[in-house]
Amino acid sequence: MSRTALITGISGQDGSYLTELLHEKGYRVHGTVACKAPGIGETPPHLHYCDLGDGGNLDTILDEVQPDEVYNLAAQSHVRLSFDLPVYTADVTGVGTLRVLEAIRKHQRRHNRNVRFYQAASSEMFGEVSESPQRETTPFHPRSPYSCAKVFAFWQTVNYRESYDMFATNGILFNHESPRRGEAFVTRKITIAAARIKLGLQKSLKLGNLEARRDWGFAGDYVEAMWLMLQHDEPLDLVIGTGETHSVREFLEEVFAYHDLDYHDFVEFDAALQRPAEVSLLCADASKAHKVLGWEPKVSFTQLAHMMAEADLEAQQVHGG
Ligand code: GDD
Repeated sequence: MSRTALITGISGQDGSYLTELLHEKGYRVHGTVACKAPGIGETPPHLHYCDLGDGGNLDTILDEVQPDEVYNLAAQSHVRLSFDLPVYTADVTGVGTLRVLEAIRKHQRRHNRNVRFYQAASSEMFGEVSESPQRETTPFHPRSPYSCAKVFAFWQTVNYRESYDMFATNGILFNHESPRRGEAFVTRKITIAAARIKLGLQKSLKLGNLEARRDWGFAGDYVEAMWLMLQHDEPLDLVIGTGETHSVREFLEEVFAYHDLDYHDFVEFDAALQRPAEVSLLCADASKAHKVLGWEPKVSFTQLAHMMAEADLEAQQVHGG
């Protein structure tokens, strides 16, 4: 019998790739969207409106959908924005996860059934890192309202696993990008601007800190890790990343060079785009995920930068101007 998945925040980048993967595997896929969420990627067959800042209809959604697996991807996920909206971010990203966990716990009891839960935890939780690369045992030191909310959600997930014997897991995902990445994140901001500059549609690009280093992978690879975590025989918390770290400047160089451009001619520094506290270095040690799940990233940093540069060039050729 085909299985059913519920994805909160289905209209985001990861929701769209995960929906495609689960459809390929024969799942029925339901998803929640907040009222104002824009639709991207494949349109899911069954949509439910739900804002995790409220969550009042989660019980009804779970009873209706009867999911075997829940992927909690909904969040206020922009780090810099979380400094402007700290309480909102704590509510949606942090307490929102608790609302989902509690709704699942009650649903399981009402219907005497088991639901597997995946929490989209984040490498931002490592923050001011105490060791590199970061692995499952690296202590958290969050550096933003966003990552503080993610740490809260992480421990709630662990607590529901330990208290109620729930199959609840945390995927500690490092940055993952794609042509479907939200336009306010640095990689996509760069690939859109570079394409527009190449086509003569834009003259310059304003950026903040170019020295921050991130472990950037391809979102399509990472949703496979999410799914594998819920197929494993025991619930675990796992680090998912490539093990390579690059600066924002390196991504910039790679993308502009792809268009035969020198970024120095176009990029301006804007102090307003800096964060009150920055995470300077992230680099994953995903050896446990490799060992336990057999998971490995397939797309390299250069392939990712070129894939995004090319996709935005095509998009701007069609829709730019
Ligand atoms: N967004 C943005 N815009 N970032 C900039 C800019 C800019 O103009 N200029 C420099 N940066 C730097 C940021 O300061 C940060 O160090 C780095 O680029 C990456 O920023 P983002 O792409 O916004 O991502 P993030 O690393 O803060 O967070 C993303 O990854 C996390 C996983 O580690 C988000 O997807 C989070 O939701 C996710 O948890």
